[in-house]
Amino acid sequence: MKKIILIHGPNLNLLGKRDVKHYGNFTLTMLENMVKKEAEKLRISVTTFQSNHEGALIDFLQKHRKVDGIIINPGALTHYSFALHDALLDTNLPVVEVHLSNVLKREKWRSFSVTAPACKKVISGKKVKGYLEALHYLNKILK
Ligand code: DQA
Repeated sequence: MKKIILIHGPNLNLLGKRDVKHYGNFTLTMLENMVKKEAEKLRISVTTFQSNHEGALIDFLQKHRKVDGIIINPGALTHYSFALHDALLDTNLPVVEVHLSNVLKREKWRSFSVTAPACKKVISGKKVKGYLEALHYLNKILK
């Protein structure tokens, strides 16, 4: 059985209460359950983690180096956290970066991702479906 981690950065604990136009109406728990349910069909186990703190996300990545892949929505850290970029790169694992909203069609500062170069793929603007796409992509490349 393959193992992946699903990580969410700052403010994503408030999904469901954030701007529905950008982020949809799923709560984080609903989103995580949806990914876990789909992953079960693919025989992939999913460990989830959310934090509003950059250092906590990095600690989690460092403690889970033995998994097979990562799906991460770094929230606003996407746009400025070089430390998170390095932590992702140092895992040497395939990483998919997911954004619920279309970061290319919002404020200019959101269109740049410092974490993307540490990722194999970036999926943006597909709301929760983006996570399923990320999961299937990892499933394909991990075979
Ligand atoms: C986000 C986009 C980021 O710009 C923002 O700061 C978020 C969520 C998204 O999922 O669309 O918190 O990563």
